[in-house]
Amino acid sequence: MATIAEMAKALRAGGKPTFAGNANTRAYAAELDQQDPVRHLRDEFIVPTKAMINRSSLAPLSDSKSGGEALYFCGNSLGLQPKSVGEYVQAQLATWSSIGVKGHFKALDDSPLTAWQDMVAACAKQMARLVGASPAEVVAMNTLTVNLHLMMASFYRPTATRHKIIAEWKPFPSDSYALESQIQWHGLDVATSLVELQPDENLYISTESVLSIIDAHAEETALLLLPGIQYYTGQLFDIPRITAHARSKGIVVGWDLAHAVGNVELQLHDWDVDFAVWCTYKYLNAGPGSIAGAFVHQRHGQVVARATNGDSHTTDLDTRHAGFSYQPRLSGWYGGDLGVRFHMAKTFQPTPGAQGFQLSNPSAIDLASLSGALSVYDKTDMTTLRNKSLALTAYAEKLLNDILKDAGSDSPPFRIITPANPAERGAQLSVLLRDGDILAKLTTAMGKADIVMDQRKPNVIRIAPVPLYNTFSDVYEVVAVLRSVLLE
Ligand SMILES: Cc1ncc(COP(=O)(O)O)c(C=O)c1O
Repeated sequence: MATIAEMAKALRAGGKPTFAGNANTRAYAAELDQQDPVRHLRDEFIVPTKAMINRSSLAPLSDSKSGGEALYFCGNSLGLQPKSVGEYVQAQLATWSSIGVKGHFKALDDSPLTAWQDMVAACAKQMARLVGASPAEVVAMNTLTVNLHLMMASFYRPTATRHKIIAEWKPFPSDSYALESQIQWHGLDVATSLVELQPDENLYISTESVLSIIDAHAEETALLLLPGIQYYTGQLFDIPRITAHARSKGIVVGWDLAHAVGNVELQLHDWDVDFAVWCTYKYLNAGPGSIAGAFVHQRHGQVVARATNGDSHTTDLDTRHAGFSYQPRLSGWYGGDLGVRFHMAKTFQPTPGAQGFQLSNPSAIDLASLSGALSVYDKTDMTTLRNKSLALTAYAEKLLNDILKDAGSDSPPFRIITPANPAERGAQLSVLLRDGDILAKLTTAMGKADIVMDQRKPNVIRIAPVPLYNTFSDVYEVVAVLRSVLLE
C-alpha cells in the first residue's frame, strides 16, 4: 500500500497514486488514517457529534456523544471551531473585564494574547507564513469584500486609455458586485470596462486562454482580478505565471484567495502579486464572518519621507502631503503610524506596509478568535498539510470515479468539474450532478446520515476534505452514502 508521502510525491510530480485493490473499503481508509502524520490535529477541533449537529437549543445535551461524530465536509464554506478559539476569546474577555482600557497596551502575563494594539501585527505574522509574505506585507482587517473595495480604491485607478478590469465568467457574486460597482463609481460602463474570461465546455479556464485574453486587452487593462481557487469549480489558477505575464504588460494584479489560503501553498511575495484578499472563516477556521486578511506587496507599502528640499526619493509613489510619499488609499486613523497614532495629528502618516491600509480600531474579540484559530497552524506547516490534502482529495476522486465505473457509461449520474490535475486544484472537488432530482435525493440521504456538505443549486455539490480535521475514513463514509444514492 502506498503511503501518504508516496502518494503526495506522485501527485506533486503530476502523476496518479496507485491505490490497492481494497481501496474502496473501510479497512483501507483506516490504514491510511493510521499513517497520517497530522492526525493528532483533529483533536484541536470541536468535531460536532450527531447529537450536537441536530440540536435546536443551547440547553445542555443529556448525551452529547450520542450517535458518534457527524461527518463535516463544509470546511470550504465554514471551518470547524478550533478549541483554542474559545480559550483565546475567553482570555480576551477576561482581560477586558479586569484591566479595561489598559488592555490596549498591556497583555496579562499568562494570556496567549498580546496587547490589543499589537494584535493585528501578531495575526499578520501568523498569516504571513501561510501566504508566503513578510509580516509587514500582511494585515488582518475588516472583511473580504470591504478589503477588496479598499484595495481597488488604491490600485484600480482607471485612465481614459487603461480602464478595463479582467475577471472571470463566474466570480463569487460579492466580487462581481464589487467589481461592477467600482467601474460605475469611476463613471465607466461595465459593458466596455469589464472583460470576463470564459471557460471551455468543461468549465475549465486554461492558463493559455488567460494569457491570450491579457494580451488582447493589455493596452486598455488597469487591473486583473482572479480567484486563486474558483469557488464553484475548485480550479486552482497558475498564480505565478498569470501574475508575471499581466505585470509584464503593466497591469496591476490582485487575487481573491478566499478558497486558497490555508488550502494550498502560496508565495505571494516571490510571485510579485500586487495585492490579495481573503476571508478567515473557511480553511482558517476563525469563525463565521471573522476578521479578514489582505496582502500588499512590499513595493506598494513604502512610506518615503521627502527630503527637506521637496525631492522625493521615489517617482512611482503619490505625494499625499508635504512630508511623505506613499501609495494613495482611503485612510483612517488605524492606518496611521503606531508611533504617532495617539498624537492625534491632523496629517495622516501611514504605517509602512499592509497595516497602513487599516481604517478603524479593530475588534479585539475578532482578533482573539483569529489568533486562536491560527495557533493551530503554528503546530504544522503548509507543505505537510498540502501533502495530506493531495492524498485525501485523490482518494475521494478515486472513490467517486469507482462509482462512475459501476454506473456504466450510458448516462453517468455526475461528472467532476474540478480539474483532474492535482496542481490545478486544492482540497475541493465539485461534482456536477445529472439533471433531475438527484440533488434532492442526496440532500435527504446526507441529512439522514448526519453529513454536512455544501451544495450550489441547481446541481453542484462541493466535497472538500480538510486535512486539518478530515480523515480518510470520513471520505470513505461520505462517498459510500453518495454511492448508495447514485447507484440506486
Ligand atoms: C471567493 C469569495 N469571495 C468573496 C466572498 C465574500 O466574503 P465576505 O462576505 O467575507 O466579504 C466569499 C465568501 O464566501 C468567497 O467565497
